[in-house]
Amino acid sequence: MVRELRAVISLGGSVAASPAPKLGFMREFARMLTGVVDRGYRVAVVVGGGRVAREYIRCASELGASQEVCDELGIAVTRMNARLIALALGERAHQRIPRSLEELPEWDRVIVMGGTEPGHTTDAVAAMLAVRLGAEVLVVATDVDGVYSADPKRFPEAVKYARIRAEELEELVGSVHTAGASTIVDPKAVRVIKEHGLRAVVVRGEVERIRAAILGGEHGGTEVVGGA
Ligand SMILES: Nc1ncnc2c1ncn2[C@@H]1O[C@H](COP(=O)(O)OP(=O)(O)OP(=O)(O)O)[C@@H](O)[C@H]1O
Ligand SMILES: [Mg+2]
Repeated sequence: MVRELRAVISLGGSVAASPAPKLGFMREFARMLTGVVDRGYRVAVVVGGGRVAREYIRCASELGASQEVCDELGIAVTRMNARLIALALGERAHQRIPRSLEELPEWDRVIVMGGTEPGHTTDAVAAMLAVRLGAEVLVVATDVDGVYSADPKRFPEAVKYARIRAEELEELVGSVHTAGASTIVDPKAVRVIKEHGLRAVVVRGEVERIRAAILGGEHGGTEVVGGA
């Protein structure tokens, strides 16, 4: 088996920052990543907005804001979450949060970032970052334990996939993104996964499962096999 050396994590705001930033989780996550990085792996993290971002988006929307303005507010929250995770990682992470994929620092420490521009969710940014950095795996850490045939919160009879092809996932998530919407992986990210044949793993956002997804252990989630 090829040893995985580079991983990008799309860390759901549902995991790290809902209903508010979760300091305990961030500390534990940083400790786990430190162990991974100290084994010689390179890691980048893109964190989502969570409940706080959704509240800002809801308020802005009620005030008549455009989708673009709603996205801007969401992105601002993701960057604050990223800053906290960088702080938890201390010297293992770059403390300046890149605002776009054009201003990435050298990958000699953990890169932590949030969103970049309206229209791109943090899942999409993470997928594009994984392509840009040539990562072997994209880990999508969220608040459910994998990809189901339908939203398991609304359809209790939905079944979980241990594996799913990118094309099938694309059919499942549809193609439209609205700020703050919940699909298990956002459609644009799925397109990037498919087009670039990225290997992605969707796992419940528990530190040990994220670690297993990076290192190739039992993560109990869904393997997304890429390929156009
Ligand atoms: N087919 C599906 N399989 C699994 N979960 C699904 C599916 N469709 C929708 N979901 C929902 O997607 C949710 C996860 O996405 P959500 O955007 O809420 O969280 P996140 O991406 O982890 O966090 P954030 O968007 O705040 O960064 C799950 O809680 C689940 O209810
Ligand atoms: Mg999401």
